[in-house]
Amino acid sequence: MNASQIDQIGTTAFFVASLRAAESARPDRLADDPHARALLAAAGISTIPGDVAEFVAIMGDQVAVRTRYLDEALLAATAGGCRQVVLMASGMDSRGYRLPWPDGTELFEVDQQPVLAFKQDVLADVTTRCPVRHVGIDLRDDWASALRAAGFRDDRPAAWLVEGLLYALDAATADGLLEAISRLSAPDSTIAFDHVEIGPVLTSALTAIDPGLLDLWQSGPLDPTSWLERHGWEPHVVELAALEREHGRPVHPAYDPAVAGSAHSWLGTGRRPA
Ligand SMILES: C[S@@+](CC[C@H](N)C(=O)[O-])C[C@H]1O[C@@H](n2cnc3c(N)ncnc32)[C@H](O)[C@@H]1O
Repeated sequence: MNASQIDQIGTTAFFVASLRAAESARPDRLADDPHARALLAAAGISTIPGDVAEFVAIMGDQVAVRTRYLDEALLAATAGGCRQVVLMASGMDSRGYRLPWPDGTELFEVDQQPVLAFKQDVLADVTTRCPVRHVGIDLRDDWASALRAAGFRDDRPAAWLVEGLLYALDAATADGLLEAISRLSAPDSTIAFDHVEIGPVLTSALTAIDPGLLDLWQSGPLDPTSWLERHGWEPHVVELAALEREHGRPVHPAYDPAVAGSAHSWLGTGRRPA
C-alpha cells in the first residue's frame, strides 16, 4: 500500500505521527511511540511540509499531553475490566501495537481503508499484545455494522477513543457520531477524546502550512461536557492548559483560559453509567 493513495484528511495522521515522533525523542517525553518514525519513513515524510513553527508551537505539547492522557484513560478502562477497545479515526496511532493491553483484549481500529492498509503493511512484523482488527470504512458510511462484522460486541463494555477527529466534524455530525457510539455502548463503557477549537492563531498556523487545511477544520462539539451529557455519558472534561501546567509544559497563550479571547483545547473522558 502506497501512502500516495491516502487523501488530504488521511495525510493529517502523519502530522500527528510526526509530533509524536518528536515527543518520543525528548529525554523528558510524556509518551513514547516507537512506531511513529517507521510510519513516517515508509510514507517518505521526514517533517510536516511548509512553515510549521507556529503549528508546532500550538500542537506539539498538545499532542504530547494528549497522548499521555489518552494512553492512561484507555489503560485505566482495561484495568477496570473492559476488554474491547475501539480507536475511531485511528490514523497512524500505534496504540494497538505499543500499549500493554491485558490478555483477552480485542482492539478495533476504524479509519479509511487506505490509511489502515498502509499502517498494517508497515507494522506487519510488530508483535502485539492483542489482536488488532482493522475496519476500513468511511465514517459517513455504516461503520457500526462493519465494526460488528469485525467481531465487536455491543452487549459488552467498550473503551472508545476519539482522538484528532472532532475538529473535523461540525456540531451536528459530532452529535451523530456520539449517538452512534452510544447505541453500541453497554453500561460501563468509556470514551476518551481531545478537541481543539480553531481560533485566529491556529488559523494563521494552518494557513502557513497549506490554506486547504482550513477547509478541514470545523467546530466540533461546541461544549464537550454537554455533548457527553446529552447522550447519557458522565463527563469529565479538562482544559489542556491545566494538564500542561501539571506536566511543566508551556501553555500557548492562544489556548490559555487566563488570556482574554483565547480558544479552548480540551481533553476528556465519559462513562456510561452501570
Ligand atoms: C488528525 S488524524 C488523527 C489520527 C489519530 N486519531 C491520531 O490522533 O493520531 C485524522 C484521522 O481521521 C480520519 N478520518 C477523518 N474523516 C474520516 C472519515 N470520514 N472516515 C474515516 N476516517 C476519517 C483520517 O483518515 C485520519 O486518519
